[in-house]
Amino acid sequence: MARYDKIGVGYALGRRTDPRWLTPVLSALGSAASVLDVGSGTGSYEPPGRRVVAVEPSAEMIRQRPAGAAPVVRAVAEALPFAAGTFDAALAVLTVHHWPDWRRGLAELRRVASRQVVLAYDTERHSDFWFVREYVPEVAALEASRPSAPEIAEFLGASSVTELPVPWDFTDGVFPAYWRRPEAYLDPAVRRSCSALAQTSPAAVDRGIARLRADLESGRWQAGHAELLDRPEWDAGFRLIAA
Ligand SMILES: C[S@@+](CC[C@H](N)C(=O)[O-])C[C@H]1O[C@@H](n2cnc3c(N)ncnc32)[C@H](O)[C@@H]1O
Repeated sequence: MARYDKIGVGYALGRRTDPRWLTPVLSALGSAASVLDVGSGTGSYEPPGRRVVAVEPSAEMIRQRPAGAAPVVRAVAEALPFAAGTFDAALAVLTVHHWPDWRRGLAELRRVASRQVVLAYDTERHSDFWFVREYVPEVAALEASRPSAPEIAEFLGASSVTELPVPWDFTDGVFPAYWRRPEAYLDPAVRRSCSALAQTSPAAVDRGIARLRADLESGRWQAGHAELLDRPEWDAGFRLIAA
């Protein structure tokens, strides 16, 4: 059973494509006419108008792909069932940190496509998110075990690394998406769409949420984070890597 068969239930509801990230992804793909989307999930950042094939190990994620989405092959990044050079570009969005052997997966991307576009994040920056620092510090241990954007960029020999800040009203419910909307984390459905929380001990998350609820009620959170409240975007460490 793929991990996302369990933690991916309801993914399509909380994780909706945000055009402010789709635009840079499309430009990083350049003129590629054929694209392999690896760890595609529901296909949030698949480019329209090109020949796209998706690769995804989880049946639950495949089930949530919208009607008319690109054809999908059930496989893993580490063993892509395609000949060398089959695609112009390989795309991997917010998935490399889930691969048991991320270096082998990236080598596979390089084998099947001459251009690689990877959206990943700096794990140290994620661990510095107020939610982790002040409420669920246990998430930092998980982040420390995941590959970080600089390592991925170095492995691929990246030609560009672009910062993708998270707008305050971002629609794709990545873990730090609600950095300026803290009440959102009180909703179990929101927490379910974040693998960092789904993979952290439920007792630790419950403890942190109880503290956050109390701080929101008392105004302590608002007083401690006043500098965030008029910021339009925040750098949570997401990086678009092209090689
Ligand atoms: C956070 S989701 C991202 C999905 C999609 N790319 C998006 O941006 O919405 C991570 C995806 O990686 C997939 N995944 C996990 N391990 C994988 C592996 N070894 N190879 C390929 N995909 C994997 C999961 O099943 C899940 O669909």
